[in-house]
Amino acid sequence: MLTIAQITDLHVTTGQDPLNQLRNEQRLRQVLRTIHELRPRPTAIIASGDLVDHGDPAEYAELKRILGDSQIPIYYAVGNHDRRQPFLDAFGGEYAPTDANGFVQYAVDFDGLRMVVCDTLEEGRDRSGFTPERAAWLAQTLDAQPDTPTIVVMHHPPILSGVKWMDPDPNAPWIGQLADALRGREQVRVVLCGHVHRAFHGLLAGQVVATAPATSIQVTLNLSPVDMERPDGREILVAEPPGFVLVVADEGRVTTHVCVAGELEPAVAYTRPFGFD
Ligand SMILES: [Fe+2]
Repeated sequence: MLTIAQITDLHVTTGQDPLNQLRNEQRLRQVLRTIHELRPRPTAIIASGDLVDHGDPAEYAELKRILGDSQIPIYYAVGNHDRRQPFLDAFGGEYAPTDANGFVQYAVDFDGLRMVVCDTLEEGRDRSGFTPERAAWLAQTLDAQPDTPTIVVMHHPPILSGVKWMDPDPNAPWIGQLADALRGREQVRVVLCGHVHRAFHGLLAGQVVATAPATSIQVTLNLSPVDMERPDGREILVAEPPGFVLVVADEGRVTTHVCVAGELEPAVAYTRPFGFD
């Protein structure tokens, strides 16, 4: 059995924003502690974007300081709050390689499981910047190993959460391009995303798409209509506990757990045989 933890939306920042700096660092550290306590210990962690809040070099230095304690190798994807060059200056290389066009997208082969990481960042935009050339890269990368169970990772989910101010236009061209790259490629077991700071699941082109909760704060579950031009004072973010996703791969069968991180009280111990049936 192989396990990989997905963390997302870390939003690490600096002392210029002391509230978020303290809160997001504490929450990220809690998630990392919980992941390190898992048995078996995950083979790798994938951090799926919005690694920092503003894409500043000083924020990536903070991130490096916090993640420097990890005993588990951490791979990276970029999100809309990241900036590619400052990110690559700090983290580029083995755990965040770039493709021929300079996008942070790559494949990693674990024992019996492949991870394909995509870049959906268009700097200066909150929405996905996934383009036809990135979709072509994904299709080509998947076709290089059609028989290896594969997880795909990208920051922006192509499915709707129902939280209107976070959702993409379901008819946006990038979603169709991504659907074409995923359709019929049966080695794909799940597409793991972040961005919405909530866990939800849906289908695109017959493939399971699963988002992870943020290590930082979560988006409030409010599905009522919203006027994008007129703020109405509603709560949009909430300090629900931090979380992560654990991918379990066992001989090609892939399952995802959505996990809450924290110091949780044990409830019941195993003291009598389970038996069968
Ligand atoms: Fe985010």
